[in-house]
Amino acid sequence: MLKPKLEINQVTEKEQLNSVTKKITIYAPDIAAKAKAGQFVIFKVNEDSERIPLTISSWDQEKQTISHIFQEIGFSTMELGRLEVGQKIQNVAGPLGNASEIKNFGTAVVVCGGLGTAVAYPVAKELKEAGNKVITIMGARTKELFILEKEMAAISDEVYFASDDGTKGQKGFVSDVLKSLIAKNYTFNIAFAIGPPIMMSVIADITRPYSIKTIASLNPIMVDGMGMCGACRVTIAGKTQFACVDGPEFDAHQVNFKELIQRLKSYCNEEKQVITPQVNGENCQCHGH
Ligand SMILES: Cc1cc2nc3c(=O)[nH]c(=O)nc-3n(C[C@H](O)[C@H](O)[C@H](O)COP(=O)(O)OP(=O)(O)OC[C@H]3O[C@@H](n4cnc5c(N)ncnc54)[C@H](O)[C@@H]3O)c2cc1C
Ligand code: FES
Repeated sequence: MLKPKLEINQVTEKEQLNSVTKKITIYAPDIAAKAKAGQFVIFKVNEDSERIPLTISSWDQEKQTISHIFQEIGFSTMELGRLEVGQKIQNVAGPLGNASEIKNFGTAVVVCGGLGTAVAYPVAKELKEAGNKVITIMGARTKELFILEKEMAAISDEVYFASDDGTKGQKGFVSDVLKSLIAKNYTFNIAFAIGPPIMMSVIADITRPYSIKTIASLNPIMVDGMGMCGACRVTIAGKTQFACVDGPEFDAHQVNFKELIQRLKSYCNEEKQVITPQVNGENCQCHGH
């Protein structure tokens, strides 16, 4: 029997990775053909939806699909999470942003926290393919919230875990693990820090005295994703840059993280209101900063 023809932006697979995280795969031949590690797309689920950026976590050029891993933390991610296999997304713009600069650096440490693992995975994979020794440090609040553990293990030379409650790996933060590896005389030629801004800021502070080049993937609020609206402006080495077209990756030692964290809170009250009474605002990401 002939398979039904897929339509552009149709959901082909959907998977629940843990209680708060979903993976969605979409038929998007043009994006799948061009996608590179570090890039993202902007989704508009329905005609009236807002635009939200999500990293391309993996892509399959044969199946012509792209996959995204996301947490349902507010109105738009919940709207995306309600889509079922066969349904279509109104608009998917991408691939957007610059690809990660990957080459053989020597030894690379990839430090990822929470959902940042979905963003870090393609970067770690390409680092390995480029010949680097890859040391991965993964963190989450608790055991249940880790994602992509098998996938990361398959492309890393060493993997370390840290959980806030000690249910997986070392009790504490990914930054504690990094500090202990440096204390054990591990030498890193480059570090990638991908996760909540506060985590990336702490990692930058740890690597700075050792002059370990450190790249952070920034997640400011984005609207057009094309450098025109100014929503995603960040300050790098004292200069304004737009994360959507100049990033999303920047030299972590030059990022004004305080400003980024402050700006991410800009619409906190509106975001809370729009999902009330669904989750009563408790999951609003900005309260976690
Ligand atoms: C380049 C980039 C890549 C990203 N990749 C992923 C990913 O792979 N998986 C994932 O789960 N999340 C990712 N995010 C964050 C994701 O875009 C937000 O979680 C999402 O927009 C929240 O929308 P909401 O309506 O569900 O929640 P809301 O309740 O509206 O917002 C919750 C929080 O999400 C952030 N946010 C809200 N709107 C936007 C927006 N338009 N742009 C950016 N951040 C916003 C703010 O910090 C806000 O406080 C990425 C963000 C950027 C900038
Ligand atoms: S999202 Fe509009 S300038 Fe970057």
